[in-house]
Amino acid sequence: MKILVVGGGGREHAIISALSKSPLAEKIYCTPGNGGISACAECFDVAATDIEGVVALAKKLEADLVAVAPDDPLVLGMVDALQAEGFMTFGPKKSAAVIEGSKVFSKELMKKYGIPTAGYEVFTDSESAVKYVKEQNSYPAVIKADGLALGKGVILAQNEEEAVSAIHEMIDERKFGDSSARIVVEEYLTGPEVSVLSFTDGKTVVPMISSMDHKRANDNDEGLNTGGMGTVSPNPYYTEDIAKEYMEKIFLPTINAMNAEGRTFEGCLYFGLMLTPKGPKVIEYNCRFGDPETQVVLPMLKTDLVEIMKAIYEHRLGELDVEWENGSCACVIMASGGYPLSYPKDIEIKGLDSNGQIEGGSETTVFHAGTKLSGGKFLTAGGRVLGVTAKGLTLRGALDKAYEGVKKISFEGAHYRSDIGARALKALDSDPLHLGYKDDMEDYIEENGVYLRQ
Ligand code: AMP
Ligand code: GLY
Repeated sequence: MKILVVGGGGREHAIISALSKSPLAEKIYCTPGNGGISACAECFDVAATDIEGVVALAKKLEADLVAVAPDDPLVLGMVDALQAEGFMTFGPKKSAAVIEGSKVFSKELMKKYGIPTAGYEVFTDSESAVKYVKEQNSYPAVIKADGLALGKGVILAQNEEEAVSAIHEMIDERKFGDSSARIVVEEYLTGPEVSVLSFTDGKTVVPMISSMDHKRANDNDEGLNTGGMGTVSPNPYYTEDIAKEYMEKIFLPTINAMNAEGRTFEGCLYFGLMLTPKGPKVIEYNCRFGDPETQVVLPMLKTDLVEIMKAIYEHRLGELDVEWENGSCACVIMASGGYPLSYPKDIEIKGLDSNGQIEGGSETTVFHAGTKLSGGKFLTAGGRVLGVTAKGLTLRGALDKAYEGVKKISFEGAHYRSDIGARALKALDSDPLHLGYKDDMEDYIEENGVYLRQ
């Protein structure tokens, strides 16, 4: 099959790596791709949001499958446009992508179908929103733009002043354009966060291996929110009991709710979850693979990803047995100095070979996020530059390898967190018998002489 992947970040690099393992994948193309992706897929310069351009490219390439990875083209209806031209696609149609495209839609869906989430109110005028926040007088106040906002549309206001200014910026100054014409003000929740990506064809939902993102820019969860500075899989908080509860209370009800609304979701549905003292709640839905969650999830997939994508398109996902490797995976993001605010570009990255991998060989895989290839050299081209990823029998093993890889790469101003996975390791230390951690459990048993629960 000739497969076209739309997008150009670390997530797309991880998707292409997984697709390229399939014997069904004869040729893989990517648009726009990036420096590192160009080592494993032919790249084109059609923007990921250019619907007509991507349809024309898919025709020119005679693509047998087009996988649309980023949120904006999905929300804009790229899958609908491709299907109208007869292409096999991966990704939800516009009517289903709204689950990420509008927070108001997703909150109303959860309310209507009794899916647990934070309490909320919707506002379109700043005066009423300010009045409500002042009445609630509870901080942090959570203020969210309704639409897509490049991952920057959630403000956790620490006091009244911050809340009022966020409301004015969003509604009155249209900080995120029409995306912030409506806002959601919601209850502040606490607890560990768990990301669960799932495959679904609307009939069956298959949760992937769980993961944990690290959203803040600096160690100890300090600094600004980013797209994600690193991930680990599986997430130790996602025990077998919790997984069962999520399936009953969140995953299946969401799939059923979307069907009942005539918005069947086909593709990867991302559940952003929080384990609160009052039980598990949905923080957000994304209509796509997460970034950088995908970088630690797909390397653990044993089943052929092309087969999975085909099965979803043909509504026979239930026939597949989707399997995962044991052990753990860790991804450490190397970002440009200054990210998530302004940062320089075009800085040479040292330590990579001509394929964009670590020079001299290594047990890590480097997923490229913001890089370009120029005159045979890799240069920085974005905020998040590289995702240095490693698998291990244990989480500690995976993290050690990933950090060893990071030390072999350098570019001026490079910034990374040194505590990716630290919280997950702590959780494992406090209860090392979590299911899904076979190798950790074996080490623990050896050291402590206790028995497995299962
Ligand atoms: P999002 O961009 O929707 O992923 O939200 C960014 C981050 O804001 C989430 O990962 C949470 O850490 C935090 N967040 C969002 N909603 C809430 C909430 N209701 N209570 C506490 N934290 C939240
Ligand atoms: N890492 C969070 C996201 O992809 O939205």
